[in-house]
Amino acid sequence: MEIDKVGVVGCGLMGSGIVEVAAKSGSRVMVRETSPELLGLGRLRIEQSMARAVEKEKLTVQEQDAALARISYTTELADLARSDLIIEAIVEDPEAKSSLFRELDKLCSGRTIFASNTSSIPITEMAAATARADRFIGLHFFNPVPVMRLVEVVRTIATTDETFELVSDFVQIIGKVPITAKDNSGFVVNLLLVPFMLDAIRQLERGVASVSDIDTGMVLGCGHPMGPLTLCDFVGIDTLLRISEIMYEEYHEERYSPPPLLKRIMAMGRLGKKSGQGFYDWNREGPIPLPLH
Ligand code: CAA
Ligand code: NAD
Repeated sequence: MEIDKVGVVGCGLMGSGIVEVAAKSGSRVMVRETSPELLGLGRLRIEQSMARAVEKEKLTVQEQDAALARISYTTELADLARSDLIIEAIVEDPEAKSSLFRELDKLCSGRTIFASNTSSIPITEMAAATARADRFIGLHFFNPVPVMRLVEVVRTIATTDETFELVSDFVQIIGKVPITAKDNSGFVVNLLLVPFMLDAIRQLERGVASVSDIDTGMVLGCGHPMGPLTLCDFVGIDTLLRISEIMYEEYHEERYSPPPLLKRIMAMGRLGKKSGQGFYDWNREGPIPLPLH
């Protein structure tokens, strides 16, 4: 079996990046969003990202046009039924993901492999909602997908060697580097990264330093490409809050617990860079840190 037809569910920050890298490497991709408006926004994100890659001389115009021609857009889940591999990248909600996989399980032929891009939900929980736990795996991409080279490949006790090998080969074909992680909430990277981001918010709550000084500290002091609070906005306040809640529920360790300030920012509907405001105001040149008390 070869992976040629790829289905992607969700065309937000991550789904759009996954569509882009799969199409650029030669796969035929069908992506599903819940409404024509969201599908249009996802399509725009893919087109802008590829245009940026052309501008930066990472892609030729011919490669861009060929990749764009390999992408189909739909709001119908049934259109993904003939995929070899389906990668789910919808909201970080265990119920929403399990119910989606339950539906896909009925629609797809037995040979389709299912993968989730979840940041924190144990893969086994979703695999158990289907009758194909042997062909179910975690594929954790990193944001921004076209730039970040890592993919965590997460197998459960039921994932077969054949599924694992096929999917690991696919990860390399799309130009990424796979690492293997056990099926524990947070896999490898988020077990380390999420407490770091949450600790930066706790520093801010304690008044240790300002938003920009905490970020500048980690950029100039430790050579990080962006500070932890910028990274929170970049990941998405809603997504980070859900990840934190899921990891805290799993481990009951304080370092994963959602800081109150994160909940307050979420309550104000500030979702980070994608909505224009989070710890920073992204609508203005800079970006500019927002007052938080
Ligand atoms: N396709 C291909 N390449 C692209 C591209 C695209 N669409 N867009 C940009 N690039 C390339 C650029 O050409 C550039 O390459 P060179 O260095 O060879 O010139 C490189 O990507 C960086 O792009 P920019 O110069 O435009 O941007 P930057 O230098 O400001 O870096 C950044 C931006 C890559 C986002 C950087 O700030 C960074 O690495 N930040 C940290 C990101 C991070 O930590 N991600 C993980 C988030 S956590 C997660 O994902 C897990 C989870 O579950 C929450
Ligand atoms: P996002 O909010 O940008 O996008 C999620 C998209 O899924 C939305 O556009 C929404 O309309 C769509 N959606 C919801 N239900 C759907 C359904 N049933 N069918 C089709 N589309 C549906 O979120 P995101 O940042 O792209 O995160 C998606 C997943 O990737 C989450 O599981 C998240 O934890 C994970 N992830 C996120 C990051 C990150 O940095 N943001 C990094 C790695 C993994």
